[in-house]
Amino acid sequence: MKVFSGKKDIIAAIDAYKVKQQTIGFIPTMGALHEGHLALVEKAIQNNDVVVVSIFVNPTQFNNPDDLKKYPRTLENDISLLASISKDILVYAPTVEDIYEGKTTSESFDFDGLEFEMEGKFRHGHFDGVGTVVKRFFEIVKPNNAYFGEKDFQQLQIIKKLVEKYHLPVNVIGCKIHREASGLAMSSRNTRLKPEYIIAAPFIYKTLKTAKTYFGTKSDDWVTKWVENQFANHELLKLEYFIIADIHTLKALKRKSKNKKYRGFIAVYADDIRLIDNIALN
Ligand code: PAJ
Repeated sequence: MKVFSGKKDIIAAIDAYKVKQQTIGFIPTMGALHEGHLALVEKAIQNNDVVVVSIFVNPTQFNNPDDLKKYPRTLENDISLLASISKDILVYAPTVEDIYEGKTTSESFDFDGLEFEMEGKFRHGHFDGVGTVVKRFFEIVKPNNAYFGEKDFQQLQIIKKLVEKYHLPVNVIGCKIHREASGLAMSSRNTRLKPEYIIAAPFIYKTLKTAKTYFGTKSDDWVTKWVENQFANHELLKLEYFIIADIHTLKALKRKSKNKKYRGFIAVYADDIRLIDNIALN
C-alpha cells in the first residue's frame, strides 16, 4: 500500500499519473472506514485509472469539541480494509499541520444559502470547515472524479456548489446510502453506540420509510408532525429535526410541486451521538 502523510509526496506521485493522462478518482473520508466508504472506493476503482482515498479527521468542521475528541481513529485498520480491496490505492493520511500549515481555521463560503439549511442551523461553521478541507484536497489530489455519499446529502449538494462556484475541474458523483441489515445508515459514529442504542437506532430509518408511504397521500405538515410524534415518546432517541425539503434548494417544503423532488432529512441524538439520515420521498 502506498500511504502518504505529506502533501509534497502525494503531489509528486499524482503528477506522475497526470503526465501519463491517467484519470484520478478521489474519495475524501475521515476514516473509521465501513462498507459505505468502501462502496465509494469500489465505484472509483471501476471508473478511474488511479484511486486516492484521504483519511483525515478535519478539526475545522467539528462544531462540538467533544465530538472531535471522541471521533474514532483507526488508521491501521482502515489501511488494511483498503488493501483488501486493492493494493494500488493511494492513501493520503495527512497531519493537521500538513493541511492547515499552522492556521487551523476555515475559509468563509457562500453556497447560495445551502449552508444555512438543516445541518447548517444546528452545526454552525460546519460547512465552512468541510468546504475548506475539500477544496484543499481537490487542489492537492487534482481528481477527475470525486465520490460523495448521499448519507450526507446536504454535504453532497454543497460540494457540487463549491465546484460550480470555483469552477473546479472535478466531476462530483453522488452514491447511494449503505445500511446495516437493520436499516441503520452506516456511519463511523455507529461504533460508539452502546448496545441498547444499536437496538434502538434502526427506528430512525423505519420511521423514514413509513413517512415516505404517507408522503403520497397526506400533507407535508401532517407527515412532519407524525414523525415528530414518533420520537416524542421514544425512551432513547431524541429528535433534533425532521424536515421535508427540495433536493436542490434544501429549503423546507411549503407547497408540493409535481415537478420537484423532495427528501425527508432527519437528525437524531442517540445518547450523545448524533445520527443523520435521509430518504427520497418521490
Ligand atoms: P466521512 O463521514 O468519513 O464520509 C466520507 C464519505 O463517505 C462521505 O462522502 C459520506 O457521505 C460517505 N458515507 C459515509 N457513510 C455512508 C453510507 N452509509 N453510505 C454511503 N456513503 C457514506 O463526510 C466526511 O467524512 C467529511 O465531511 C469529508 C467529506 C471527508 C470532509 O472532511
